Amino acid sequence: MTTSPQPSTPLITELRQICGSANVLTHEDPATDLSPWEQDWRKRVKGRALAVVRPGNTSEVAAVVKACAAANTPIVPQGGNTGLVVGGVPNGSGTQIVLSMTRMNAVRAIDPANLTITVEAGCVLQNLQAAAEAAGFLFPLSLGAEGSCTIGGNLGTNAGGTQVVRYGNTRELCLGLEVVNAQGDIWHGLSGLRKDNTGYDLRNLMIGSEGTLGIITAATMKLYPQPAAQLTAWAAVPSMEAAVQLLGLAHQRLGPGLTGFEVMNQFALGLVDKHYPQLRVPLWQGTPWCVLLENSDSENEQHARSQFEALLEAALEQGYASDAVVAENLTQAKGLWHIRESITMAQAQEGLNIKHDISIPVSRIPAFVAETDALLAREVPGVRMVDFGHLGDGNLHYNVQAPEGADGQAFLREFEDKVNTWVFDQVKRFGGSISAEHGVGEQKVNKLPLYKDPTALAMMRAVKKALDPQNLLNPGRVLGK
Ligand code: FAD
Ligand code: MLT
Ligand code: ZN
Repeated sequence: MTTSPQPSTPLITELRQICGSANVLTHEDPATDLSPWEQDWRKRVKGRALAVVRPGNTSEVAAVVKACAAANTPIVPQGGNTGLVVGGVPNGSGTQIVLSMTRMNAVRAIDPANLTITVEAGCVLQNLQAAAEAAGFLFPLSLGAEGSCTIGGNLGTNAGGTQVVRYGNTRELCLGLEVVNAQGDIWHGLSGLRKDNTGYDLRNLMIGSEGTLGIITAATMKLYPQPAAQLTAWAAVPSMEAAVQLLGLAHQRLGPGLTGFEVMNQFALGLVDKHYPQLRVPLWQGTPWCVLLENSDSENEQHARSQFEALLEAALEQGYASDAVVAENLTQAKGLWHIRESITMAQAQEGLNIKHDISIPVSRIPAFVAETDALLAREVPGVRMVDFGHLGDGNLHYNVQAPEGADGQAFLREFEDKVNTWVFDQVKRFGGSISAEHGVGEQKVNKLPLYKDPTALAMMRAVKKALDPQNLLNPGRVLGK
């Protein structure tokens, strides 16, 4: 990393005094490339930062916020920059500070008796999982971006991932927060308490606020015992109805042992097969859907296997599955998960697409998919659906890929807004949400008022105004201007 040259504004001078010159990067130095902080993961938006500021501790964050507030300069908090809704990159004005939290990545403490771990916001999720494992525990949050996303970003977006069916979203895993508010004051809320009814729940207000209400600098997260055995299965299922029936059966037979239930359509798996043939996708060619199930057992592997095999036999008998395999060992299990987690990359390799991250009551998903597929096929000839997601949570990534051979940019120009409207209208009709786990960011900001309860939106605006009257923190995101 290159050190920027002499500052050009009093604010930049002050920020360099607070964090050290090497940690305040600007465009003044031609050798410094800010694009990793300015470009979103999907490469849909390239902003321009006034500076990228990389604080090393909570006091520095507080001082940076105070300096920015005095200069009326907006701040965009950023973790691993893996967000999918354009929430963590600056806009194009060149007037916003990106506050990159990645230097604050320490594990501060593990409390085995309290089953908690306290980490700084910039701690990469995979490192948090590894720290928990080294102490003999499980930290269950898991998602495809875990090698680069941070716990601060996970909390900022209330990330979901693949273990929600058992352990809940990031919100359910958090017991305490340390936050710098928009005035630059530090809220010391790392209590680790499981019970605390002393007024408004500020922790849950901050979680999922996408950097618009405060900057999370550290968090106390729950730990769980490691399962005695964990098995993964892959099943071909004849329809979405069958997938939902299989989910019901899995809940019934495995109870809390059911820790993952993912669904993937044939086209999504075909993309993985096309772009990553070495991954050897099983059972996908002769079936419209495949399901990945995980059974985490507190007894032993034999118990887990016999329970799992009995479940799959029953599913085959009842026609909920047409074929199934159970991973023989951890390597095979990891391979199956890797296939599932590669869909996002395979889809990106295939070209431009319109992503949706929706939730619908599980019972209504089959009808939603049948109706919406038919609608899109009518309106967009040759449309290709990349449909996958966390069926156990009623969360689908219901994505629309440009027709084969189409010019992706032209496709987006003609169809992106129309497709969003068709899909979101359907989501509303089926009682769902237009953002299940990725958040609102900038991408869905114009759609939110059309699909969210107006009273809820008015209350959200009142909260934002009360906590951030200067509109300093991630302005324009979630609520718009
Ligand atoms: P960033 O992208 O840097 O920021 C995201 C938002 O949080 C921004 O609004 C930002 O301002 C805010 N923010 C960041 N840090 C802080 C902080 N310290 N304090 C306050 N606000 C902050 N998401 C899921 O939910 N489930 C998935 O299964 C999933 N899978 C993914 C797979 C891939 C391959 C990719 C690329 C992304 C995936 N995501 C998934 C989306 C993304 O990884 C999550 O949203 C993640 O939580 C973002 O973390 P981050 O550190 O990268 O945050
Ligand atoms: C996933 O479940 O893989 C993620 O949410 C990423 C995506 O939607 O592409
Ligand atoms: Zn997801």
